[in-house]
Amino acid sequence: MSTSAPSLAAPALREGAFGNAVELVCRECGTTRELGPHYVCAECFGPLEIRYDFPAITREQIAAGPNNIWRYKALLPVPDDIELSPNLEPGFTRLLKADNLAAELGLKSLWVKDDSTNPTNSFKDRVVACALSAAREFGSKVFACPSTGNLANAVAAAGARAGIKTVVFIPSNLETPKQVNSAVYTENLVAVDGNYDDVNKLASEIAGEQDGWAFVNVNVRPFYAEGSKTLGYEIAEQLGWRLPDQIVIPVASGSQLTKVHKSFKELIALGLVEDKPYKVFGAQATGCSPVSEAFREGWDVVRPVRPDTIAKSLAIGNPADGAYVLDICRETGGAIADISDDEVRDAIVLLARTEGIFTETAGGTTVGVLKKLVETGQLDPELETVVINTGHGLKTLDAVTELVGPAATIAPTYEAFVAAGIA
Ligand SMILES: Cc1ncc(COP(=O)(O)O)c(C=O)c1O
Ligand SMILES: [Zn+2]
Repeated sequence: MSTSAPSLAAPALREGAFGNAVELVCRECGTTRELGPHYVCAECFGPLEIRYDFPAITREQIAAGPNNIWRYKALLPVPDDIELSPNLEPGFTRLLKADNLAAELGLKSLWVKDDSTNPTNSFKDRVVACALSAAREFGSKVFACPSTGNLANAVAAAGARAGIKTVVFIPSNLETPKQVNSAVYTENLVAVDGNYDDVNKLASEIAGEQDGWAFVNVNVRPFYAEGSKTLGYEIAEQLGWRLPDQIVIPVASGSQLTKVHKSFKELIALGLVEDKPYKVFGAQATGCSPVSEAFREGWDVVRPVRPDTIAKSLAIGNPADGAYVLDICRETGGAIADISDDEVRDAIVLLARTEGIFTETAGGTTVGVLKKLVETGQLDPELETVVINTGHGLKTLDAVTELVGPAATIAPTYEAFVAAGIA
């Protein structure tokens, strides 16, 4: 197994290319390595993550920044001049008080962090913006990814704006809107006959063989993953610089959940929020629920599964960060749960009808799991809760087309309208 992409090796890095990031550190054995296009520990094959040496950072400095993720650039592995290079400027999405949904579920205080309004309508624009910066600093020629859909959309769009060649790989059975939302930005959408785990394996092989390819979630994964921290920073800032008591997050690879937790710990360490306990909850669809299964069974490791669910964006059967998700949910007193595809569909409609937010199947999974966690007594209805909506319903229309539609089809007459009984 290769421990770095030979294709991206030995870049002449400029001073400050990664801001306050100082090195890569193995999450398993703690071995450190210089910043570079590496993602696996040379000692133990554990995953590498970014370590920083943060200066003092104030709330005022952050608030003076732009209304996008670059307001937190001092906390990310990006250069200080990041705003000068073309990118999609994602982030600073709405945190909405969800009183109607709270009442429906019997919760005292609920917020929806609505990341469906990012430039390509999912949270993936955040991680891709950080990966694009790394690819630029490494002098990559191609910007690429294996994807369950949303990531491919974000890579294709960001690459177009940055003027770098993009190649995005997806399972060939993906929803049509997710395919079109990539193909419109890139000539190089590659549909692979296999599931996400097959596509991911292929991408790793290409990354090891091809010169100058930056696979955002493979060989630049440590840089990419940091982008999800901005979700946590924003939630804290939008709550008035404090942490929620409970947060519910969808889990595919598990990267987002681990990074939101990391962001909360960083804010505490930097003195930007008060130190207080919070519980992290993970959401999966039953048809692809290896992390939820491991949580329920009390296992420390995640047993890979073959996905079969309408929540295709979450259909990763062998999640890279699954074991870390388990640790975080257990440590914080949270939980991981899963729901059926029918419950996912119902939750999409529930969120739409209570809060006017149209989410995709990943958000349906998250809201449906929130409901289940309340019903099973695992989530405390008295505590302040945030649920993350990570993507937009227009990309997974098929999931609800059988549940919603015209209440009546009528002749264009007043009499026909009255007869329909809608008034
Ligand atoms: C809409 C949406 N939500 C959540 C996730 C899960 O992200 P992660 O792989 O970081 O767990 C994905 C992953 O593709 C996604 O597309
Ligand atoms: Zn190691």
